[in-house]
Amino acid sequence: MEKDLITEAKNILDGNFQEKGYSIPCKGLYPFQWKWDSGFIAIGFAHYDMEKAKKEMQTLLNSQWGNGFIPHIVFHVETDSYFPGRDFHLSKLHPESNDAYPSTGMTQPPVLGFTLEKMYEIGADKADVLSFIKENIDKVYDNHNYFYTKRDPQNEGLVYIYHNWESGTDNSPIWDDIWLTMNPPEYTFERRDTTHVDASQRPSNREYDHYLHIIEIAKEHNYDDAKIAELSPFLVQDPLFNSMLIKSNDSLINLYQLIGGNEDKVAQLKKWQEKSIRTFNEKLYDAELGAYIHYDLRNEKPIRFVSSSSFSPLFAGIPSKEQAAKIINTMMTKFGGGDMYLCASFDPTSERFNPKKYWRGPVWINLNWILYNGLKDYGYDEIAARVKADSIEILTKVGFYEYFDARKSEYTEGAKGYGGGNFSWSAALFLDMLNN
Ligand code: DGY
Repeated sequence: MEKDLITEAKNILDGNFQEKGYSIPCKGLYPFQWKWDSGFIAIGFAHYDMEKAKKEMQTLLNSQWGNGFIPHIVFHVETDSYFPGRDFHLSKLHPESNDAYPSTGMTQPPVLGFTLEKMYEIGADKADVLSFIKENIDKVYDNHNYFYTKRDPQNEGLVYIYHNWESGTDNSPIWDDIWLTMNPPEYTFERRDTTHVDASQRPSNREYDHYLHIIEIAKEHNYDDAKIAELSPFLVQDPLFNSMLIKSNDSLINLYQLIGGNEDKVAQLKKWQEKSIRTFNEKLYDAELGAYIHYDLRNEKPIRFVSSSSFSPLFAGIPSKEQAAKIINTMMTKFGGGDMYLCASFDPTSERFNPKKYWRGPVWINLNWILYNGLKDYGYDEIAARVKADSIEILTKVGFYEYFDARKSEYTEGAKGYGGGNFSWSAALFLDMLNN
């Protein structure tokens, strides 16, 4: 059974890999290259086709801008099957954007540092992987430099995101209160996602008005970071995003030390790291909730909701042992009931929980992978094993979908997953969890 699934996972990855050297997340719904998808996909490829893993990373890094920024979507092909596409985002408005790669003007969680380290750990030919890393590591460093110099206006060691699509957790209930502070126009546009996927599993049209409005404001200022920090109605310090950055800092330090030299970069990374972890624990830890939370930097207030992002700091070694015990207790109490698969993307005990709607409740394999690794690092082997077993059980029951119902009762005969099918990172991270 497992063997069949392994073959299926590899077939999905190979089938989604494009001639130009990148993978689409899945057919139909997502026809381009997405940043954090690419990182997870490269980890999957590393297990059986390192050349593809390298190509995936290389192609994404080639799209980097002059200021170190790496975009969230790279529009490698022209198609009208996705909205909003290259003509809406208009990355060329930014003076340092990359002419050769039309893209969005926003980014996604910084997974590339730890992706490189994972590729090294997995690869059999260490010298070969290390020479690839040597050629590319400075680009990832420059990307971190971009974050710390352009996206931390109060110099706290925490970087902001200016759009919900930058979080990766696109329509999370976390953002609902921010939408209430905005009153965007009703745009005229044609959704394409809902021609591929049932609308009940996707964000609403009114939510899209907000998403587009933030981009319009950024475009009015040619995607200038300082202007965005000043004017964007959405400006958030996100625990998932910052955890990915901190984990990747750590990986860059390890890899630079392996390569040798680069003392200045290692010293800088350690400085960022120390400050980031300190502020993270001071500002994003909510002792009363027993969880890490988001902070609304525009409206200067904590956003006190628990989501799967709340536990992602485990993956980056951020919590103390005591904090880890508290947040894991919160996770098991709210998300870990016997009738639920771990780990719902939003607090199942909240009235905002929606088990079918994208990031408002469903289980996502990338978050499970992050939690699985974080729980193991902190010595919570049994709970880690449950996250892995739950992930494999879901994938075995319904296949490699994009997201999944957390309620066990939904898995009756003929049940399906949600969103796109043959989804690349579900396949890639399944391969990694099996080998781990
Ligand atoms: C989408 O189109 O929903 C994407 O997730 C945006 O990144």
